[in-house]
Amino acid sequence: MKKITTILMSLMLVFSLAACGNDQPSQSETVEPASEPVSEDVSEDKNSDTSAESEEEQQTEEAGTTGDGKVLVVYYSATGNTKDAADYIAAATNADTLELVPANPYSDGDLNWTDENSRVVYEHDNPDDREVELVSTTPAEWEAYDTIFIGYPIWWGIAAWPVDTFIKANDFTGKTVIPFCTSSSSGLGESGELLEEMAGTGNWLEGERFSSGASEDDVKAWVEGLGL
Ligand SMILES: Cc1cc2nc3c(=O)[nH]c(=O)nc-3n(C[C@H](O)[C@H](O)[C@H](O)COP(=O)(O)O)c2cc1C
Repeated sequence: MKKITTILMSLMLVFSLAACGNDQPSQSETVEPASEPVSEDVSEDKNSDTSAESEEEQQTEEAGTTGDGKVLVVYYSATGNTKDAADYIAAATNADTLELVPANPYSDGDLNWTDENSRVVYEHDNPDDREVELVSTTPAEWEAYDTIFIGYPIWWGIAAWPVDTFIKANDFTGKTVIPFCTSSSSGLGESGELLEEMAGTGNWLEGERFSSGASEDDVKAWVEGLGL
């Protein structure tokens, strides 16, 4: 009996030692990954990603483009003249178009600059109240466009202010921006420079003024001369 007890106790000792021995490796397996310098590795990866990204951005910036070479003609037109010019440009450049539509459209009465009580005269005399909300300010796939034509009628010698909302709402970095306008007699004046200042980004070209009823041939000839 004593012999059997001794054998049983020896067997238990062997089993418990064996069990302890199995614990050891599994503990070190769990600990090992946690003791790896994971965060250092990740941060190194992050750094290299960031530098790769900024290198890419730099190259894109140097090339002067960010999109897929697409052209967009954006315009505001109160009575249709600028719309016609915009459509001619779009046809000549195979561009997409975006019409800027005020959420509160201008009626004929609103546009009557000879009426001192009209909306447009009030807005002209009160620059702080010229914020014109638009139905839509940014086209889908804005990033895809490298060249943006921006068209407007001349109002009191400057760009009709509904375009301001579009200019302020978008980032023109890496894009070539070409202003164009229609007017009864005024030239482009400083309208393009003022919009460029407002935008703060983009590579702005000088732009062009067309008469209110400009022909498709005139507009096309100008576009072709740009050498896009
Ligand atoms: C409120 C207002 C102000 C205008 N101011 C000028 C101006 O200063 N000089 C000018 O030559 N034409 C001026 N015009 C005429 C328009 O610029 C011209 O008719 C233009 O082609 C209209 O373009 P749209 O049909 O796209 O709105 C003005 C028109 C309006 C309604």
